[in-house]
Amino acid sequence: MNWHQTHALVTGGTRGIGRALVDLLVEKGAAVTATGRSRASVDQARQACPKVNWRVLDQSDENQRAEMVARLQGQGVNLLIHNAGVQQLHDFTQESDTLHFGTELETAINFVGPVELTRGMLPLMRAQANARVVFVTSGLALAPKRSSPVYCANKAGLRSFAKSLRAQLRHAKWPIGVTEALPPLVDTDMTRGRGRGKISPQAAASQILRGIESGKSEIYVGASALLRVISRISPALAEAIMIKR
Ligand SMILES: NC(=O)c1ccc[n+]([C@@H]2O[C@H](COP(=O)([O-])OP(=O)(O)OC[C@H]3O[C@@H](n4cnc5c(N)ncnc54)[C@H](OP(=O)(O)O)[C@@H]3O)[C@@H](O)[C@H]2O)c1
Repeated sequence: MNWHQTHALVTGGTRGIGRALVDLLVEKGAAVTATGRSRASVDQARQACPKVNWRVLDQSDENQRAEMVARLQGQGVNLLIHNAGVQQLHDFTQESDTLHFGTELETAINFVGPVELTRGMLPLMRAQANARVVFVTSGLALAPKRSSPVYCANKAGLRSFAKSLRAQLRHAKWPIGVTEALPPLVDTDMTRGRGRGKISPQAAASQILRGIESGKSEIYVGASALLRVISRISPALAEAIMIKR
């Protein structure tokens, strides 16, 4: 991967892991277009990081996705990092569930958005050298936890989608690589006030970019590598460890 010849589109680049990815990509010399859901968040990120082409994109919105693809025509995007995501805590046994929004919207953001944005971007990326689509899923795609059933299902679905997409592109001889990055618990707004042993967004981003550099299909970040080993030896043990969370 020659970063100086890379134009990356990073979704959810305003905060957390996405922001760390954006900062590192800029440092490495890549051109970066990055998105956030809210105007306020995008404006704030633009002030802090003016080299980046910042755009508002609510990826659950079909029209906004189409506009983004149209805007990127001819811009030479060859690295698409699907990073944006939300995690809602749901307890299906409680009538007064504490969710901010429902299953359909959570799934539209975490699953439908990246899948359909990929569909729109593939024809643009097909003509680029060293093109790659990266899906940031989660260690929870390997084994779910109790507290976020929809999120875990979305990430497992995205993992499955990435595998099929990789096979389709190879079969069709389209020169676009597919990578899945599986972070462990990372210290961001998403995990504020819960969990222990978190790694920094910078550490997660740096491992993800190293994996992309080596053309890896799957990047097991931090403790996700251990979870992968356990789940290969005993899927039941991996599930038993994770489900209590
Ligand atoms: N943190 C963890 O422990 C962890 C672990 C494994 C995997 N992950 C995954 O890593 C990715 C980044 O997580 P994070 O912890 O860095 O999240 P975060 O700090 O909460 O940031 C979320 C990002 O997604 C954007 N976003 C939210 N809703 C969106 C929407 N509807 N359309 C487009 N963008 C939207 C936000 O934009 P605004 O700033 O405009 O709201 C923000 O840039 C996610 O896919 C997450 O599932 C995180």
